[in-house]
This record gives sequence, structure tokens and C-alpha cells, in this order.
Amino acid sequence: MDNPAVSVSDTPAKAFPSSSGEMFDEYFKQGSKCGFKKNELLDPRARRLFETTALACSVDAYPFQIPLEGRPGPMVTADGHQMLMLSSYDYLGLIGHPRVQQAAMEALDEYGTGTGGVRLLTGTLDLHREMERAVAEYKGTEAAVTFSSGYLANVAVIASLFGPSDRVIMDTLSHRSLLDACRMAGVQIQRFRHNDPESLRQEIQNGPTANRTLIISDGVFSMDGDICILPELLAIKKEFGCFLLVDESHASGTLGRLGRGTDEHFDIDTNEVDIWTGSLAKAIPSNGGFVAGSQQLIIFLQHASAPFIFSGAMAAPAIAAVKEALAVLKDEPERVSRLQCNAQFMRMGLQRLGCDTGLSETAVIPVIYKDEPSAALTARRLRDFGILATPVLFPAVAQGAPRLRLCVTAGHTREQLAFALEVFGKLAS
Ligand SMILES: Cc1ncc(COP(=O)(O)O)c(C=O)c1O
Repeated sequence: MDNPAVSVSDTPAKAFPSSSGEMFDEYFKQGSKCGFKKNELLDPRARRLFETTALACSVDAYPFQIPLEGRPGPMVTADGHQMLMLSSYDYLGLIGHPRVQQAAMEALDEYGTGTGGVRLLTGTLDLHREMERAVAEYKGTEAAVTFSSGYLANVAVIASLFGPSDRVIMDTLSHRSLLDACRMAGVQIQRFRHNDPESLRQEIQNGPTANRTLIISDGVFSMDGDICILPELLAIKKEFGCFLLVDESHASGTLGRLGRGTDEHFDIDTNEVDIWTGSLAKAIPSNGGFVAGSQQLIIFLQHASAPFIFSGAMAAPAIAAVKEALAVLKDEPERVSRLQCNAQFMRMGLQRLGCDTGLSETAVIPVIYKDEPSAALTARRLRDFGILATPVLFPAVAQGAPRLRLCVTAGHTREQLAFALEVFGKLAS
């Protein structure tokens, strides 16, 4: 979209090619080289993936891995064109913020590109300690520890604390990293119906015997954009003597007046939740993940969690970006309210057009379709109008609920969002 202010004509000015599909073209043009037989490296489970990818490429609608040329933001360059980005996690629009940028560059100069070690041994920098104090202060907990991704933060805390004699009861829509962490822990896994306290009670009362029970929920659900029922989860945790973990990956920076997350949203004392986890690659524009909680918990994780001991430490520029972004969040809380207003504007606009935005009440706004081809083809058509929006298909979401997962940011202008709504209106008519 070379000019986001232009009005939308019935046919887009240009049909943008799908360069991502091109990266496989030779492969798919030559036909399948793989029989998907039982004893082959790619066995029959891989067949569907190859068939759907081949189909998407054949109609020039492969929607993934679109290489961005340059810095991500509300406007990005892809395939040589400026396009409106509508699926980025950069909720606060902090990628490229001058202060964050400067801090990362200074850290690069001073500390270099890597740490040369894992956290427990030689990889801890003074910057790690400063960042962890800043994360703990942000989350309002006694202490925090960081890992090289949010995924690893979940693995670290769940797999080091829980085992086969314990059980986890998690929301059915919880993030994949939480499920993988439970599988790695070998803990008994139960699921409760999404945001349904009655279902949680039933699971607690009717599950297998276990030493300890951990309840898990996301703060904001990544595919649906709704908020967890934190007050009910706390009441049930207390009633049954369970522990509670909340993943703040999509709530950090987006919920509450100051962007402090789900506890701020509900005006609940942070320390009522036993374990907070989150990503530092979304509203906080870097890489990494955190666990925040009591000092005792954090000391334990520093000595017993595998990703702290067996995986390389976060590098200095990423750490400096986290620290500075948290400082910017404190200094510029108006970014949070701008994000929330933009999300409200977009969601209401889509609903007025008759789009199914599901349960969304945050900056994550799904547009749900009846079948996968509709979702994928709408993504392709949006692209022709210069808009990038990612489809999310089974198994990432339930069968029968494919969607475009839109993410609004504080960096979007009203003009850009109005343009997107105009295009959605065109496509719906
Ligand atoms: C709810 C949730 N938890 C954890 C993660 C993993 O975070 P990271 O990308 O930092 O590994 C994500 C990432 O999408 C997420 O949505």
C-alpha cells in the first residue's frame, strides 16, 4: 500500500505477488518427492501439511513466512511494497523507539553480540541482573528471572517444579508452550473449558490423585483476544489449595492503565498469583521471557531450571532493549491507552461490518471464518490491497474456527485502521 490514505477502489491497484510461495516453487512444481509412508522420515502425518501448502502455492495464496524488508512497524516493506501490518505483536509500537534503539546500540558497543555462556556459569552480565530487577518492579513481585524466550520461561518453571506425581489443570485455549512444558515435566494434564469456573471445579474434584495441583491460564488468550477470569481462578485456587500460573505474554503492556497486565486490569494484588510468566518479544520489543514471583521461587529456578543451566544467555542488546522499553512504558503510559482505543475502534468497526470477532476484548482481534479456504483467500485478497494479516488455521485453533488474527498496535493511526476497515467492507460486500 503505497499510500494508506487513498480510498479503496473495487479492484486493487496492484496484485502483489506472493514471494513466500516462491521459496517453495521449485519443490512443488516438481511434484511430491516423498511418499509419506510409514517408515519414511516424513511419515503419513506430514501429508496434510504438504497438500495444503502445495494448494496454497498453486493459487498464489501461501500466507506465511513473508519476509519483511527492514524494520517491523505499522507500515512494513514486503515484496518491495509498503504494506499495512495488521498482525504484529508490537502492541505498544516500541520497535525502533529512539530510546530503545539507542540503548541496544550502546549495549552492543559495550558488551558485544553474545555472552559466551549459560546463565548459571559464565553467561550472566550485570545487565541481566538490572533487567530482572526492572521486570520484578514492573510486575510488582519480589523477584524475576529471565530466559531467552517466553516459550523457555514456561518450560523452565513448569518442568522444574512439577512432575508425574503432580497435576496441571489448564484452560483449553492456553498457549502451546504451556502444554509442551507440561509434557516435558511429565505431569498429569487435565483441561478445563475455556474461562469456565464450573468446569475447573469439576476437573479439580474429579481428577486423578496428585500431590500438588497447578492451575494454568493465559492472561490474554493469544488466538481469541479475551481476558482470563482471574478473580474466579484465585477464589478456586484458595478454596482447593491449588497453585496458579498466569502467562502474561499478551497482557503485558496491553492490560491495565499502566500496561502492567491482568492483575492491574482486575485491581488484584500481584502476589496472589504464585507464578507469572511472559514473553519479552511482544509489547516489550526484544527477545526473551520472564518468570516473576517470590524470591524463593526465583532462587530455585536459577539453580534447577534446565534453560537457565543448559541454554545460552540473552545477549546484551536484547537485554538493554527490555530495560529501556520498560522505562519508556513507565514514562509514556499514554501508549497503553492509545492501544486500547485503537483496539476498540477496530473491533467495533469490524463488528459493524458483520465480521465475527469472537470473544475479543483486547488488541488481539480475530476475524473468524467458516472454512479455511475463506480465511486464507481473504488474507490473500487483503494483501492485494496492501494489508498483511495472518490466517490462523487448525491445529493452532479449533477445527471449524479458522481466522485472521488481527493485532492492533499503539503505532497504528486512525487513518490506517479506517483504511483497513474500508477494505474489509469491500471484501465482505
Ligand atoms: C501466551 C504465550 N506464551 C508464550 C509465548 C512464547 O513467547 P516467545 O515468543 O517469547 O517464546 C507466546 C508466543 O507467541 C504466547 O503467545
